[in-house]
Amino acid sequence: MTDVTTLNNRFGIQDHLSFTTDANGMVYAQIKNRLAEAHIAVQGAHLLTWAPTGQVPVIWLSEAAKFAPGKSVRGGVPICWPWFGPHPSQTSFPAHGYARTVPWEVIASAATKEGATRISLRLIVSEATRAQWPHATPVELHLTIGNALECELITRNQGQTAVTVGDALHTYFAISDIRNVEVLGLDGLEYLDKVGPSTLRKQQGAVRFASETDRIYLESVDDCIIADPGLKRRIRIQKRGSRSSVVWNPWIEKANKMGDLGDAGYLKMVCVESTNAAADVVNIAPGGEHRLWVRYSVEQ
Ligand code: BG6
Repeated sequence: MTDVTTLNNRFGIQDHLSFTTDANGMVYAQIKNRLAEAHIAVQGAHLLTWAPTGQVPVIWLSEAAKFAPGKSVRGGVPICWPWFGPHPSQTSFPAHGYARTVPWEVIASAATKEGATRISLRLIVSEATRAQWPHATPVELHLTIGNALECELITRNQGQTAVTVGDALHTYFAISDIRNVEVLGLDGLEYLDKVGPSTLRKQQGAVRFASETDRIYLESVDDCIIADPGLKRRIRIQKRGSRSSVVWNPWIEKANKMGDLGDAGYLKMVCVESTNAAADVVNIAPGGEHRLWVRYSVEQ
């Protein structure tokens, strides 16, 4: 792992970006520019927080989140890659792939002329990752942190055969109260309801929450909006390179079993994930690439 001094020398930018470490040896990028503030764990390329200047945070991070090598963090923007959900055949492989729990490296940083900060990270391939994914598919995350947040996950196939990838930006959004928010943009779509036996249903109107919700919306390509009257804001989710969206809230019982969601944490978060999930996996030909891109912004 590159030490923090080296990272600061190579990628630090005054009035934009610096690196710190904690007692567990986890390394973080701290971004503060005139447009926004954000924190990123280098492990997992995991964006933990993002708040445009003058706003309450848009991304939710559990007060009980654990930060340790090899562990996933509850909240932020976990990266699911190179599969989404359970592995299609290997039950011992981790749910949502391994990208969120392995070391990544910083490969670039920049300040934009608009005042935003860019940082790019690449997953470090190791014997352990090769054991689960023996394909030559470097993956990078490019983040732009300003008054909007842009995340682009790029998978390149440098091998000789096609590969099938599932992925997601599994974003936890901060909300006033799950019982009072609505998710718009999914009306009329079919979804796989994963609560209980998997069932295909059709969305009518806005998505509202009154119990555990775990759904894969199919053919979801339009913007989603989280309408939050309590915080008097709407979060707009734009995306490309994704034809499915997952909407998830564990509700109280599952949250209590998870142990890292915090007291009543489930009330304060909703995941609206831009995914390539279920049948919406991506085939990448040799020499080809796949880009999963999202842009989050706040409207008042
Ligand atoms: C969602 C899945 O994407 O992630 C849920 O649809 C899952 O089924 C949730 O429970 C959280 O997953 P994890 O592995 O971070 O606990």
